[in-house]
Amino acid sequence: MQVNIDIRVKRANKIYYETDTISGVVVITTPQQIKHNGIALSMEGIVSLQLSPKNVGIFEAFYNSVKPVQICYALVDISGPNTIPQGKTEIPFEIPLVTKPNRMMHETYHGVFINIQYTLKCELKRGFMLKDIIKVAEFIVEYKPKKQTTDVKPVNFVITPDSLEGGVDLGTIPGFRISGTIDSTVCNISKPFTGQITIQHSEIPTKSIELQLVRVETCGCAEGYAKDVTEIQNIQIGEGNVASGIAIPIYMIFPRLFTCPSLATNNFKVEFEVNVVVIFENDHLVSENFPIALIRA
Ligand SMILES: *[C@@H]1O[C@H](CO)[C@@H](O)[C@H](O)[C@H]1NC(C)=O
Repeated sequence: MQVNIDIRVKRANKIYYETDTISGVVVITTPQQIKHNGIALSMEGIVSLQLSPKNVGIFEAFYNSVKPVQICYALVDISGPNTIPQGKTEIPFEIPLVTKPNRMMHETYHGVFINIQYTLKCELKRGFMLKDIIKVAEFIVEYKPKKQTTDVKPVNFVITPDSLEGGVDLGTIPGFRISGTIDSTVCNISKPFTGQITIQHSEIPTKSIELQLVRVETCGCAEGYAKDVTEIQNIQIGEGNVASGIAIPIYMIFPRLFTCPSLATNNFKVEFEVNVVVIFENDHLVSENFPIALIRA
């Protein structure tokens, strides 16, 4: 006894670009014939910002700039009042993906304090005393790859006890020398992050070598800003006591949805960093931080 609505866009990967027309079908399945007062389909893109608990209160004035921002909206009636027969009915639709005046389209991004999300919502109006039936489905917005000139400059790094920042007791830190290369800190988001790392020597065996991808989300306005760093993923590239003198590949794929091209607007920023972390058997860890710029190229 349940009416089911499904929104199916034509593109299997659900990726759309600004000014595209999104086409697809709304599939309605019903166990018996139903009457309705019309079916509407809306498309909406929203940026929502949220303050982390540590920043709530500090930035009272900030609340106004934390309201969700609508980037795009469109509404089409895909059916007037009608009757739907028992079984499966497909209603085709087309809806334009255009931004509102003075708004910029940004790529889909699922973060912690910043979310950029695009949805299609279908509403079947049932009329008096009956609840409308609503279905929401997300689709993905990406920038068209742009030919951009990027200086792909490898970045070399060396980590030794001397390179560690102050406050550590050198007496408790084992002697070691770690070197490596990051192929580029300007990264094509559709390509893996690459490089290599070599344990030149270490007095204490290593336990693990890890790559940590973090997001740096900044919400701000004239009154101030709130910046939060959170982990997206942590992957192990070396396990146990890795052999000295052998280059270990650094290789990480940027996860879809949880990353987007680095973004800076008037009231929010989304940036990314990679930490290369070496953990020794005595649980000491050393790490090197690389701010990276993600681009859709
Ligand atoms: C970025 O990566 C994609 C996917 O591998 C590729 O098609 C595109 O040509 C790359 N862009 C540049 C500028 O290398």
